[in-house]
Amino acid sequence: MSVEIDWKNLGFSYIKTPFRYISYWKDGQWDNGQLTEDNKVYISEGSTALHYGQTAFEGLKAYRCKDGSINLFRPDENAKRLMQSCQRLLMPEVPIDKFVDAVKQAVKANEEYIPPYGTGGSLYIRPYIIGVGDNIGVAPAPEYIFSVFVVPVGAYFKGGLTPTRFIVTEYDRAAPRGTGSVKVGGNYASGYKAGKEAKQAGYSDAVYLDPQTHTKIEEIGAANFFGITKDGKKFVTPKSPSILPSITKYSLLYLAKERLGLDVEEGDIYIDALDQFSEAGACGTAAVISPIGGIQNGDNLHVFYSETEVGPVTQRLYDELVGIQYGDVPAPDNWIVKVD
Ligand SMILES: Cc1ncc(COP(=O)(O)O)c(C=O)c1O
Repeated sequence: MSVEIDWKNLGFSYIKTPFRYISYWKDGQWDNGQLTEDNKVYISEGSTALHYGQTAFEGLKAYRCKDGSINLFRPDENAKRLMQSCQRLLMPEVPIDKFVDAVKQAVKANEEYIPPYGTGGSLYIRPYIIGVGDNIGVAPAPEYIFSVFVVPVGAYFKGGLTPTRFIVTEYDRAAPRGTGSVKVGGNYASGYKAGKEAKQAGYSDAVYLDPQTHTKIEEIGAANFFGITKDGKKFVTPKSPSILPSITKYSLLYLAKERLGLDVEEGDIYIDALDQFSEAGACGTAAVISPIGGIQNGDNLHVFYSETEVGPVTQRLYDELVGIQYGDVPAPDNWIVKVD
């Protein structure tokens, strides 16, 4: 391996990799796209992405397996979610085949930046689409760029599999009938302040409550929430039109039921009813499964299973999910796409 990276101590920071994929949409169609070494994007000062937030993105990962092959985890699901984001912001859709092909090209071209098997790292893949071209009115852009770059990453939350504390924020990340269910730029800049205040106060991230009533858990920073009931028999996760439909969460709902034999439920999780859970976690592509040690809500700190040790059900879910991603555990049909 010619690349000099301390694979075992990777965090979640930008590292410039050699190649990225870029494709342009103009006059009603996408061009074929190509790889480029230039990590700068040249766009009009009138681009809608700069002024009006006409921008959407995705996040998925490539994993190096024990046999040296490369796994993508459910990339077609990310492609479908990007389509939904594009529909919501009136941007042209990127067809599933084009999306998956672009991801494969970007991963393959930067293959030596995929952390080796056993280091715990992976290659984070960031596809995005932005409205560009000369424009000034509040209207969809005349042109678009779809690009995919990759960055080798380790743990997103510092604790990894050690539980950490999170704190309920007063801010909302999304409006009740806004854009919370799609992965668009504006949802994230508006969350900076809540995240910063949480971290300054010593917590891993902010817990968002539902924007309508402020009584139910919605999201944990940029990750979904799940809880395991005290009898250890049920996996529960929020259902709301303003949370992002997490691919990890839907994967865990399946694995909890089919592989661990748990009951599963998507429903309301009231912030003052956390006693029903023995374990809780944040889940997402970046967060993987990050156990939640405790949630601070005003003066009240609710501690789950332990503040130092991951709970047994969370550990089993983690082993199943991560085992599938790295190719050590058999995957359900069509979950793994190889990069050849
Ligand atoms: C707000 C938010 N919620 C949840 C998730 C987790 O989604 P996924 O499991 O598809 O990565 C993400 C990350 O994509 C996110 O940004």
